[in-house]
Amino acid sequence: MTAASASTPAPARQRWPWWPLLPLYPYGRRRTLVRELIPDQVWSFEQLQGLFYVAVPIRMTVVRLRQGLMLYAPLPPTAELLAALRDLEAVHGPVRTIVLPTASGLEHKLPAPALARACPQAELWVTPRQWSFPLRLPPSWLGFPAARTRVLFEQGLPHGDELVWRALGPLNLGLGTFMEVACLHRASASLLVTDALVAIGADPPAVFDADPTPLLFHARERGDQPLEDSPEQRRRGWWRLVLFASYLQPAPLTVAGVGEVLRHAFAPGLRNPRSHFGLYPFRWHPGWEEAFHELTGETIGRPQVAPVLERLVFPRCRAALLSWIRSLAELEDTRWLVPAHYEAPVACTADQLGQLADQLEQRPWASDQGNWSTLAGIDRTLLKLGLVPAEPAP
Ligand SMILES: [Fe+2]
Repeated sequence: MTAASASTPAPARQRWPWWPLLPLYPYGRRRTLVRELIPDQVWSFEQLQGLFYVAVPIRMTVVRLRQGLMLYAPLPPTAELLAALRDLEAVHGPVRTIVLPTASGLEHKLPAPALARACPQAELWVTPRQWSFPLRLPPSWLGFPAARTRVLFEQGLPHGDELVWRALGPLNLGLGTFMEVACLHRASASLLVTDALVAIGADPPAVFDADPTPLLFHARERGDQPLEDSPEQRRRGWWRLVLFASYLQPAPLTVAGVGEVLRHAFAPGLRNPRSHFGLYPFRWHPGWEEAFHELTGETIGRPQVAPVLERLVFPRCRAALLSWIRSLAELEDTRWLVPAHYEAPVACTADQLGQLADQLEQRPWASDQGNWSTLAGIDRTLLKLGLVPAEPAP
């Protein structure tokens, strides 16, 4: 870390002034955890993002290439993040390439212009069919630097001798286009993906260590319970956060009525913003732990399709998803999967990806039942309103 940045107080170094564009927890203050994933080759920069303390890790992956550094899936470039990046640049050379590997993931798209401005020597490579919501704006209006922005596939692919690129989509979803571009870094055998594949661990990721409040908040049963810290409470909170983030409202969760919420609110010791003043509208019922196991399967931490995407993005696009995973399974060098959310790096071979595709082909897909019912209801409503097509067009 540079001397100037080290002398600045942490909240100032973690400031992200553009947070109102996508108002997710922790809003204007983004801590960044930096971890070396593959020695001298791949690093993870992680922050938290979410709603109402439902926070999951979001990751930018930094890869050392022969010409300098590549940043895959941008993060908000706080002073703290840039200081850590400058440290890597001092050793491995400047950032030469920034990759926005998704057409739809706003959380990765919004920080891209600011990150590009902070790395003036870098080309910004974006997936085709970028779009903005709620207004359709041209990329230059979104702040992408026109002179050094390139479109993946349409204008080539960067570092073709060191990287292999594999696209999922574009899939026309009515509300916008879904596209994700995976990238295999041959030298480190790391396969970088964005949203479609994740691996969820049993314990909360280290990015929560600096402030476990979201975990402790959700580990409780009622609003008048204090936020107590213990490894068990952290794990309990983590499992619930995962269920929220995966299903929005899993079956063992109901929302308490206003009267009940207010009855347990404003208890002594909880009248503060950190505890949301004791306002806690969630009621977890028996079976929620089983719901977590059902989600993660027998092998916790294995690569899987993110449930929200299965039910809302791919319910009628299983074939496209399968052929993408099978194309990843052809990359025989792969040893590690590095998604932009949850765990990384995850041990992952080409054979495992092939098995994952086989399993997805054989099991029921985009269920309407149990934990899936809330997502299924959203999908049905979007279909009924004509906002998503019954058959996705390319
Ligand atoms: Fe994402």
